[in-house]
Amino acid sequence: MPKCLVEKDFRRDRGSARIRRVTSETYARSVTPGGMVVTLRGWTGPDLDAYRAWLRPEHDWHRWDGPYYPVPTGEQADVLVAKLARSNDLTWPTTAAPTSGPAAPASAAPPDAPTSDPESLPPGRLVVDVGGELVGTVAWYWESRETEWARLGVTVYDPAERGRGIGRAALSLWTSFLFQRTPWVRLDFATWSGNRAMLGVGRALGFVEEARFRQARVVDGVRHDSVVMGVLRDEWRELPGRRPGYSPA
Ligand SMILES: CC(C)(COP(=O)(O)OP(=O)(O)OC[C@H]1O[C@@H](n2cnc3c(N)ncnc32)[C@H](O)[C@@H]1OP(=O)(O)O)[C@@H](O)C(=O)NCCC(=O)NCCS
Repeated sequence: MPKCLVEKDFRRDRGSARIRRVTSETYARSVTPGGMVVTLRGWTGPDLDAYRAWLRPEHDWHRWDGPYYPVPTGEQADVLVAKLARSNDLTWPTTAAPTSGPAAPASAAPPDAPTSDPESLPPGRLVVDVGGELVGTVAWYWESRETEWARLGVTVYDPAERGRGIGRAALSLWTSFLFQRTPWVRLDFATWSGNRAMLGVGRALGFVEEARFRQARVVDGVRHDSVVMGVLRDEWRELPGRRPGYSPA
């Protein structure tokens, strides 16, 4: 597995200023045409806090990423972050109490979470890092574990960071990393026809539309198509020109 260790000092002023040294693993990195360095890396304590803050319901990305599903409640968000912390050997909450209620026990994991041989699987969610900060995440989950059919997700949380090539670079790195790290023959993502940015990212990288369920999603009272875009391992290999450079870290 391509990886290296990166050490960073985080100085946080929370009443009593203190230094927290955190370490995270770098998985892949590329540079956008605009010169931005986009890195996929593992989690640190400050990332968990940032991620928890982005899970709050008021943030714009919820309007685009599966807006037909309910936004996680405060308690569900705490469970999600606590689970992420456990799977990355981190302690969370990092400083004070969780934002709402105590973390739920491990049994609250979603039913589709891999339950056997987790060591051999790639990490389920990584940080998309620009300039040392979490700007997004990439994730995968089983669409059908029985046939090793994995589905991807990518999100750039801050609207001000979107449209600058970060999502495209992150999805490209994630796709390359997962194909390199696993024997999986295909990868895909599911979105809706109103999410032009996500469809644009998929098209730009060479993902092809594999399924369109007409008028299957309702967003703000309007019906949209559900769209799945996918790529085969063999196709991905032949598309080097379409992707930003993948450099195994
Ligand atoms: C979808 C998302 C990950 C894309 O990341 P991004 O950094 O904004 O996208 P990029 O800047 O990398 O754009 C990639 C391509 O999509 C196109 N694109 C971006 N935004 C677009 C828009 N609003 N309309 C049409 N095309 C768009 C760009 O033109 C670009 O193509 P190009 O490189 O050939 O010019 C990001 O916008 C996001 O996180 N949105 C909110 C959450 C979400 O929708 N997640 C996906 C759930 S399935």
